[in-house]
Amino acid sequence: MPVDYTNLAATIAALTAGETDTVALMATIACEVHHAGDRFDWTGFYRVTAPGLLKIGPYQGAHGCLTIAFSHGVCGACARSGEAQLVADVDAFPGHIACASSTRSELVLPVRDSTGTLIGVFDIDSDQPAAFSAADARDLEAILDQVFAGS
Ligand code: SME
Repeated sequence: MPVDYTNLAATIAALTAGETDTVALMATIACEVHHAGDRFDWTGFYRVTAPGLLKIGPYQGAHGCLTIAFSHGVCGACARSGEAQLVADVDAFPGHIACASSTRSELVLPVRDSTGTLIGVFDIDSDQPAAFSAADARDLEAILDQVFAGS
């Protein structure tokens, strides 16, 4: 089922208008994105809580691991590089952290504040192989920038 990212961005903008609390913003985005498509089986944030360390934030789906070092996993690769990680087959990604054995593909995006500082990563897991495209990454990054970077 394709995602209407124009409508999703408008909905999130309306729901978060005037809000500055990061947890509230993350919770809203996790909820709206998770329910926007049938490919999204785990949708949530990992926050930068110390140098080189990610801690789980608001999410939707089964329980996720609480802590991820920048040196580990797809989330760590995104945090280290500051680049989107588009993983068509998680079994082919060295060091993938399987919070659920059903996960087949994954998309992890950097989350930056208005100063450009990395404040976390946005992680979406799918039970479908190759579930995500460069267009998903582009459009979701635009939503994250709209909410957290004010752009
Ligand atoms: N798969 C992620 C870990 C987070 S769970 O998927 C929610 C990773 O490899 O970093």
